[in-house]
Amino acid sequence: MMSADEIRELLKQVKYPGFSRDIVSFGLVKAVEVNGGDVTVRVEVATKDAQVPQTIFKDVHAVLERVEGIGHAKVDIEVKDAPEAAGGAVGKSSIPGVKRIIAVASGKGGVGKSTVAANLAVALSARGLKVGLCDCDLYGPSVAQMFGTTERPDANEHDEIIPIEAHGLKLMSMGFLLEDKSPVIVRGPMATRYTQQFLRQVAWGELDVLVLDLPPGTGDIQLTIVQTVAVDGVVIVTTPQEVALIDARKAVAMFAKVNVPILGLIENMAWFEGDDGKKYYIFGEGGGVREAEDMNVPLLARIPIDLPTGRGGDEGRPVALLPASENKVSAAFHAMVAGLNV
Ligand SMILES: Nc1ncnc2c1ncn2[C@@H]1O[C@H](COP(=O)(O)OP(=O)(O)O)[C@@H](O)[C@H]1O
Ligand SMILES: [Mg+2]
Repeated sequence: MMSADEIRELLKQVKYPGFSRDIVSFGLVKAVEVNGGDVTVRVEVATKDAQVPQTIFKDVHAVLERVEGIGHAKVDIEVKDAPEAAGGAVGKSSIPGVKRIIAVASGKGGVGKSTVAANLAVALSARGLKVGLCDCDLYGPSVAQMFGTTERPDANEHDEIIPIEAHGLKLMSMGFLLEDKSPVIVRGPMATRYTQQFLRQVAWGELDVLVLDLPPGTGDIQLTIVQTVAVDGVVIVTTPQEVALIDARKAVAMFAKVNVPILGLIENMAWFEGDDGKKYYIFGEGGGVREAEDMNVPLLARIPIDLPTGRGGDEGRPVALLPASENKVSAAFHAMVAGLNV
């Protein structure tokens, strides 16, 4: 007879109805109990669509039926109230026309997540890829600022927002939609709803890669995002201090739990190089390197504190637009994407 873990493994064959992702990776399988020949699977799903639990029920049974030695199979599905979804039920896993979605996340704010997202997008674009950048940070959108655009997007005839184009990239940010600079005051279910709507209602067209700049932390919004679109991989940004590393660890654990592949860690603000050519480890030396080793995830890049990098962000020209020969941070981003295999 199979173990609970083996059965859980088999349940990965069951896709969430309409999604390419399975119910195990979505974290919907709450328990698998094996008692002699009897198996009980407990599934929890948040939806308003009655078809969803019915289909999952049927599909889980179908998988269990094929397992030899199971006497009685019981499938318990608890249906919870869904968050207010933009289109009613849970939507599609992928965005039509978009080949790959890469998220940039961090446990803490202010570690350079948006800086990394912007430069990663620019460096990918420099490789000849069609790239979009979506700023999912409702509370602290910064893509408008980082690309120096105050243009307001139009909608097309399908009521989708047409992204703004700058430096060869397609950009979308909550910042484009705000009248002034004040952060959106939305909480809980509303924030979830805005995020879903935002992710689904942008006319991206054909993209090789869509980079998502996620809000900091490991809360509902991050989960909403990974449940609204199928994220192919996530890059976690941290600074070398212990406080940042602790939160980076939490972010890695969260994405691992929902089965989003961790592409690796980026140690930002790793050092400052003085005019004397010496490296000053302002936030401690090698925190990100050790953390990547401990967590067994690749260390994708170490980015120093660099004045043109900070200025580039403020002035709307991400530093990766500079030739790699002129700036070390630009060089680091271009080297990193070459190794990303995107
Ligand atoms: N490597 C760096 N060198 C210099 N300034 C940086 C660097 N990384 C980020 N910054 C600056 O630090 C501030 C916070 O970065 P940001 O990318 O907005 O962080 P987050 O999105 O994590 O909140 C910004 O002003 C940005 O320009
Ligand atoms: Mg940011």
